[in-house]
Amino acid sequence: MNSALWHPCTQMQNHENSPPLEVVRGQGAYLYKADGTPILDAISSWWVNLHGHSHPKINAAIIDQVGQLEQVMLAGFTHPPIEQLAQRLVEITPEKLTRCFFADSGSAAIEVALKMSLQYWHQSHQPQRKTFISLQNGYHGETLGSLAVTDIPLFSSQYQPLLIQHLRAPTPDLTLKEAGETDLDFLARQFATLEKILEENYTTVCAIIVEPLVQGAAGMKMYPPIYLKWLRTLCDRFNVHLIFDEIAVGFGRTGTMFALEQAEITPDFLCLSKGLTAGYLPMSCVMTTDNVYQAFYSTDVTRGFLHSHSFTGNPLAARAALASLDIFRHENTLQKNQQLIMTMQNELAKLNDHPNIRHVRQTGMIGAFEFVQANGQPYPAHDARGRLIAQFAMSKGILLRPIGHQVYMIPPYCITSDEIKHIIDVARQAVEWAAQQSTPSISNHHTENLSLP
Ligand SMILES: Cc1ncc(COP(=O)(O)O)c(C=O)c1O
Repeated sequence: MNSALWHPCTQMQNHENSPPLEVVRGQGAYLYKADGTPILDAISSWWVNLHGHSHPKINAAIIDQVGQLEQVMLAGFTHPPIEQLAQRLVEITPEKLTRCFFADSGSAAIEVALKMSLQYWHQSHQPQRKTFISLQNGYHGETLGSLAVTDIPLFSSQYQPLLIQHLRAPTPDLTLKEAGETDLDFLARQFATLEKILEENYTTVCAIIVEPLVQGAAGMKMYPPIYLKWLRTLCDRFNVHLIFDEIAVGFGRTGTMFALEQAEITPDFLCLSKGLTAGYLPMSCVMTTDNVYQAFYSTDVTRGFLHSHSFTGNPLAARAALASLDIFRHENTLQKNQQLIMTMQNELAKLNDHPNIRHVRQTGMIGAFEFVQANGQPYPAHDARGRLIAQFAMSKGILLRPIGHQVYMIPPYCITSDEIKHIIDVARQAVEWAAQQSTPSISNHHTENLSLP
């Protein structure tokens, strides 16, 4: 490879045989190669894009802002777009979320939430609270703090010496329920263990952190809102914070603007990123309550939240975010998505009896299934058939990127019903084709990027 570029989440040696795909343009739900070949972006470019690539209204907002103010530090300064954005976010989230702290990536938002929660307890005369509870298979980012509450060994095991040990509770992922077990029995069983962990440790726990409704990087593993209701009650009972990481699921992915709406509860911290700027620019936000805010409000500088990133509250990103919220409002996006959600549901239902497919599932605009051997048995973990699925889909002009053996779609909202049908049909064909191929396996030396999110 002659390129000086070192790609993320990639074994670079793989690019010797299959170089990265060069994209030169994006428009609506499509990315375009230099020769004009379109690629339907069924995964919204790592789950960030909302209204389509190169949306004229978002483009115009950014261009307008570039002519006024491209960046100013946010400590000691403010500017209209970020003030407006904070206000708009407060308006569209539950009443108790009244404060917005901005950062520049999803991982950074998680760092902020963890630090804020810890400092809150420290400044509330409970300095013994130092630990967090996260869920098995949960993913919250890859900076050291966020990686410590992430449970995806592929990303964390190399860095164990740098990671603080926190507590981990069983996942509510419904695909793990036992034969004959009802959803509710399974959830109650998993929750009981979490309850026990908290009962035994609550005096030292700052917060429980979860991805509400969908554990994305685990392979779009889903669970219902009732679990989140139980969590809120539990956190209240033991007086610990509840952190919702809606970095992947926020801004309409689950069918509602935020997943928390389906549980009708308010977390103490709400982390947002990815769709915040409609996938245009790096920005994240941690929303919290006045109660938390007041614990930092003081004449003493050191009691303030002294966390900062150079690009915090960037005006261009804020304008992109405001333009995205305008699109939601003026184009009735969530309402319009209902039709797409129905289409996805109907098309996914057709896969239910497929011998190579199990655990067909959907939450709002996110659809997923696992592909298995014809005898219904899962493929071994080292089997790299996910790569074949991605290759097949790409040969049909569709960007799919299975996580292990989980095939999923999380399309931009400008997608059409026909395109959704086409994606699911191609995914089925890909599974059938991959099942015929001789076992491609990956050694540790060839951790194939296409089995990563
Ligand atoms: C639920 C969740 N939290 C946090 C992150 C980290 O965000 P970023 O990649 O912007 O650091 C991600 C990214 O995929 C995510 O899905």
